[in-house]
Amino acid sequence: MATLYNILRGSLLTLPWLVWVFIVDLLVSLLLPLLPIFPDICYNISSALAESGWYWIQLIFTRANGAVIAVSGDILPCGESAIIVANHVKWCDFYMIQELAVRAGMLGRCRYFAKTELRWVPFLGWGLWALGMPMVSRRWDKDEKELDRVFSGIVDRKWPTWLISFSEATRYTPAKYAASTTWCAENDRSQPQHLLYPRTKGFITTVQHLRKSSNVKAVYDLTIAYQRGDQFRCAPSMWETLSVPNITRDKGYRFYIHARRFPLNELPDTDDGLAKWLERCWVEKGNWLEDKRLEWSENGKAQKLK
Ligand SMILES: *[C@@H]1O[C@H](CO)[C@@H](O)[C@H](O)[C@H]1NC(C)=O
Ligand SMILES: *[C@@H]1O[C@H](CO)[C@@H](O)[C@H](O)[C@H]1NC(C)=O
Repeated sequence: MATLYNILRGSLLTLPWLVWVFIVDLLVSLLLPLLPIFPDICYNISSALAESGWYWIQLIFTRANGAVIAVSGDILPCGESAIIVANHVKWCDFYMIQELAVRAGMLGRCRYFAKTELRWVPFLGWGLWALGMPMVSRRWDKDEKELDRVFSGIVDRKWPTWLISFSEATRYTPAKYAASTTWCAENDRSQPQHLLYPRTKGFITTVQHLRKSSNVKAVYDLTIAYQRGDQFRCAPSMWETLSVPNITRDKGYRFYIHARRFPLNELPDTDDGLAKWLERCWVEKGNWLEDKRLEWSENGKAQKLK
């Protein structure tokens, strides 16, 4: 019964949102021909449209379904453009990042690195492209033109942006973790706990381009963690986030995001220095995650004893 109820409830919550996302995609795609003529207005309109869709799904998760997202670390200044790196666990990661973006007034300005194949998905792909999402193949020599397109909006036109990259390039799995550990051992690198070794090339390219702009002031390092019962890193699926009520209180999911802010002018100047900086950042992130895991497992034991 509860399942059937959840399916119905989830569909009723999700369908109007899907219709709206389709309309947003259509409108944003229609703005494409105007983009070369009125670039700033188009960017502002498409940001506002995107924000409406993103805020709506955020409200389904947090208000309708009662997800409680815990936030810690540095307060991120309102309206500040930044380069953002985060670890990638599950679909839920978007809600965690959006929680911070809402607080900083930057929700409509979030731009994620996306896979280039998405460009050929009708509406969705065009919409992402029209929004100014960098669509990359992760072969950085091939991506130069696309990055120029995205960076010029941020550098030359000073568009407010949160440029977000999941630096591990893929989601965490135990198999990928094993592969990462082997690779680090062979290449004499530090394998961070709970994470995959980060891809440094994209980060270096992004920082070296955007630091030329007075518009971009900082790098934010975001750490995302989940727990359910005694299972670390356990998060609900996309459909569960839309359909399961009281997801924190009744289902016992914990959602956590930790932010650190680094002024861009304090980062190393050289490519090599930046690669090392990101590596150290990931090692610290892994240590933070391990501390969180221990803290939560102590909590869990204490709760069971009660
Ligand atoms: C776009 O939005 C920004 C920030 O809200 C504002 O400063 C700028 O004037 C807007 N540009 C146009 C052309 O509307
Ligand atoms: C969430 O839990 C409360 C208290 O148990 C309950 O009254 C409410 O109906 C639940 N919400 C949903 C959407 O099931």
